Amino acid sequence: MDQEKYILVTGGAGYIGSHTVVELIQHGYVPVIVDDFRNANRIVLNGLHKLVPKKLNVHEVDVCDVSEMEQLFEQYSFAGIIHFAAYKAVGESVINPLKYYKNNVSALITTIELAIKYKVNNFVFSSSCTVYGDIQTHKEVNEEMLNHTAISPYGNTKLIGEQILHDVKKVNPSLKLINLRYFNPVGAHPSAEIGEYPIGKPNNLLPFITQTAIGKLNELVVFGADYPTPDGTCIRDYVHVCDLANAHVKALAYLEQMQHGCEEAFNIGTGEGTSVLELIRIFEALTQTKLKYSIGTRRAGDVPEIYARNDKARDVLHWQPMYTIQDAVLHAWNWEQKLANEN
Ligand code: WQD
Repeated sequence: MDQEKYILVTGGAGYIGSHTVVELIQHGYVPVIVDDFRNANRIVLNGLHKLVPKKLNVHEVDVCDVSEMEQLFEQYSFAGIIHFAAYKAVGESVINPLKYYKNNVSALITTIELAIKYKVNNFVFSSSCTVYGDIQTHKEVNEEMLNHTAISPYGNTKLIGEQILHDVKKVNPSLKLINLRYFNPVGAHPSAEIGEYPIGKPNNLLPFITQTAIGKLNELVVFGADYPTPDGTCIRDYVHVCDLANAHVKALAYLEQMQHGCEEAFNIGTGEGTSVLELIRIFEALTQTKLKYSIGTRRAGDVPEIYARNDKARDVLHWQPMYTIQDAVLHAWNWEQKLANEN
């Protein structure tokens, strides 16, 4: 029987992690979920069991706990690692930077240290388009436009993470690294069995729209309509979370066929920009509802416009987005309604 291809998925019970777990299983891998559920809801496991009726390997462990993590490297012979475990709210990171530097950087160091010690060379790092920093000038970014000053502590932890991996690779040449730079993850699994479980008030736009529409929140405030964009509101590259999950499987496949060490970064975005007001219109048209919103002041740290140049992911990883922004809005709305019916 073929050797099980165990993949360590740190933060595997989170929003992107859980959708990636489904994709991994559907592609013959055996994910090992490591999560301490500080930023994930245990009920995601119920949804996963419905989607992939196989016994899940789940370990409630703090990724920063070296001894606990080392026991897992002793227990499993990992074929690869996908490192998600991190806090990810841009706004919160500005208010509480130490929480972000301490957790996000320590979790990565623990994981890469053990990867080296146990010779697990295939390593996919959950990075972010925030590493492009305060790009007030260009809109479409390619992987070379790395800026060495991120605009939030969260973005800085991703930039530092890429730099740590770069320096570690220099002295561990057999390491095979991929940095996946996500743009704006949105939506939920088409089955509505899993989705984003926002803890507290959501930070991101689409959950804010769906929670306003379902009545959980009173109204959406659009953070500024005086930007240098066609309708004055910020433009982002919204990528369906299932497309993002698939990018991780494509990244692992690329690393597995690589005969020697490597280090690559890939933009994972649709290449299309959508403004805040456009997203609101798409939501209203799809759901036949009128969203209650008002125009407020700008949010610190927002850039006017950013979207991916994704040719490299298409050409090298053979990845492409399969879902449209309409799919993502509809799946997010189905998910919001599912959550409302369950509560
Ligand atoms: C999008 C736009 C807001 C809420 C995200 C993730 C970050 C990274 C990049 C992965 C902005 C506007 C929002 C609201 C609003 N992804 N907005 N009213 O800031 O692009 O960052 O993608 O690493 O982790 O956070 O996403 O959804 O917060 O904002 O007007 O109530 O929507 O000003 O223009 P952002 P977002």
